[in-house]
Amino acid sequence: MKLLHVDSSIQGDASASRALSAAVVAQLLATDPSLEITYRDLAAAPLPHVDLEGLATATATPMLREFLDADIVVIGAPMYNFSISSQLKAWIDHIVVAGQTFRYGPEGAVGLAGGKHVIVAHSRGGIYSQGPAAEAEHAERYLRAILSFIGISDPEFIVAEGLALGLEQREAAMAAALAKAAKVEPASLITV
Ligand SMILES: Cc1cc2nc3c(=O)[nH]c(=O)nc-3n(C[C@H](O)[C@H](O)[C@H](O)COP(=O)(O)O)c2cc1C
Repeated sequence: MKLLHVDSSIQGDASASRALSAAVVAQLLATDPSLEITYRDLAAAPLPHVDLEGLATATATPMLREFLDADIVVIGAPMYNFSISSQLKAWIDHIVVAGQTFRYGPEGAVGLAGGKHVIVAHSRGGIYSQGPAAEAEHAERYLRAILSFIGISDPEFIVAEGLALGLEQREAAMAAALAKAAKVEPASLITV
């Protein structure tokens, strides 16, 4: 089985989403040492914006090939300015390609990338799961929408929130998210 691991935080070793995505991958690898892993660090090697010329050749990009080939995709996704990082958005623009990961038919859009299991390790400074900021949550909501658009209707989210609200809250949120990451199982993840 092939696993694609994507990170997109700009915060290097201090990154929560990187710690969580690494924990998910380590857990999956411990369960299945034969996993073939491809790693893409979108902060270390940022992708260009998609442009008209790029769209014309998008079917042949390494990003799209890696994604299409993967059985499992683990995405480290920090919340920046209520949404995802621009690095991750650029990657999404490279893999959401008409005729490859979705197509339009008489009934509307049809996702073509089903059968993969996607696990998103998501970190955010505030609390968005409840309370007044919930309406401003455009990272998890956007990722669920775009993944569903390409046929991935049931991504697994491991969320650590409130990370900017003090050391105690940060440690508790990370411990809970890491405990969840340690329970991820490859066999239960493939929804072909
Ligand atoms: C540029 C930037 C923008 C941020 N914007 C938000 C935000 O809109 N809401 C929020 O709750 N936290 C925000 N944060 C805090 C991050 O969500 C928090 O640091 C989280 O840990 C990011 O994941 P990372 O550690 O993997 O980078 C922001 C942090 C940075 C660096």
